[in-house]
Amino acid sequence: MHLLPPTRQKNYSLPVNKLKTEVIKINENDGLEKYEKAAKLILGGEVVGMPTETVYGLAGNAYDEKAILKIFEAKGRPQDNPLIVHISEFKEIYDLVSEVPENAKKLAEKFWPGPLTIILPKSEKVPYCVTAGLSTVAVRCPSHKVANNFIKACGVPIAAPSANLSGKPSPTKAQHVYDDLNGRIPLIIDGGESLEGVESTVIFMAEGTPKLLRPGNVTLGQLKSVLGEVLVDKAVLNPLEKNQKASSPGMKYKHYSPNADVTLVKGSYENFCEFVNSHNKAGVSAMVFKGEGENLSCPCFVYGDRNDYRSISNRLFDTLRELDNEKFTCCYVRCPDETDDDLAVMNRLLRAAAFKVTEV
Ligand code: TXA
Ligand code: MG
Repeated sequence: MHLLPPTRQKNYSLPVNKLKTEVIKINENDGLEKYEKAAKLILGGEVVGMPTETVYGLAGNAYDEKAILKIFEAKGRPQDNPLIVHISEFKEIYDLVSEVPENAKKLAEKFWPGPLTIILPKSEKVPYCVTAGLSTVAVRCPSHKVANNFIKACGVPIAAPSANLSGKPSPTKAQHVYDDLNGRIPLIIDGGESLEGVESTVIFMAEGTPKLLRPGNVTLGQLKSVLGEVLVDKAVLNPLEKNQKASSPGMKYKHYSPNADVTLVKGSYENFCEFVNSHNKAGVSAMVFKGEGENLSCPCFVYGDRNDYRSISNRLFDTLRELDNEKFTCCYVRCPDETDDDLAVMNRLLRAAAFKVTEV
């Protein structure tokens, strides 16, 4: 067994929950007038929960330092972890970055709007509190119609991390945002369930060979089909080594953790069942693929079809949150295939398990 201590993130001074958090439903066919209240809050320096196709984000005006501080405060997020800036169409990128190389343009043409974040040298307009002092900025153009309309209605670029309390699984439903941030933010836009289910692919293109920092549903293969060579940061599938500098500050922190103790179990289905059944006691649960629950004696959560990585990513965070709702203390998770397509899910599961992996 490979066991590493998690980086505990418990000592935040979180704000007192003093706001009344309103939830408004907006669907993709609603007109821009429906966004008036939320846009007014953003332009007044407030923060708002917003749906995207990947996960819900906690939105603030990227040009407003006070709003950015509110984002960090509401989430209890370490301030050295930079935010992604969201735009509604490609041309808005020129306000945020000092140059757009040809290969980044090609990538955006192919995958924007969509679940892809591109890191480039920042322009002077982007405050350093957004980039946590870095000279680069992460930019993404979401495809979710409500997110896109909301950014348009605000008329400013929107900085937004995932709208969870720092360290918790990312939210894929408005209810998840409410569960984590009720009382800390004034408004959540409920635009339905996030269909991708894992956060965007993050690629560093500020210098040298493009490098994948966080896998997502724009896969490594798809990136390579446009860019040719793409490096993969070692921290995508490995814990940071002592004294190793993180390419992406977010890699340093414990992530996606339910209260249940998660263990990723590698090996055949038969061995998985034998292992889990022999460890079954009160509080134990399992996360398995479609059709795999029947030979297990503990409560099981199906988190997708083994042969369809999108179905797995879609249910992943929701399932991790369900473990907590049902008060499980331990969860054994069937390991996905270790292909390029499954990288995003592997990356999240390894972190949810604090890199605790058992081979059976
Ligand atoms: O799908 C997504 O990307 C969602 C939705 C809301 O758009 N957002 C999201 O943001 O996942 P967040 O803050 O939870 O994750 C952003 C990641 C962090 O790991 C952060 O360290 C990294 O991107 N990042 C942001 N700016 C960076 C930069 N300039 N250089 C390196 N890493 C950066
Ligand atoms: Mg996050």
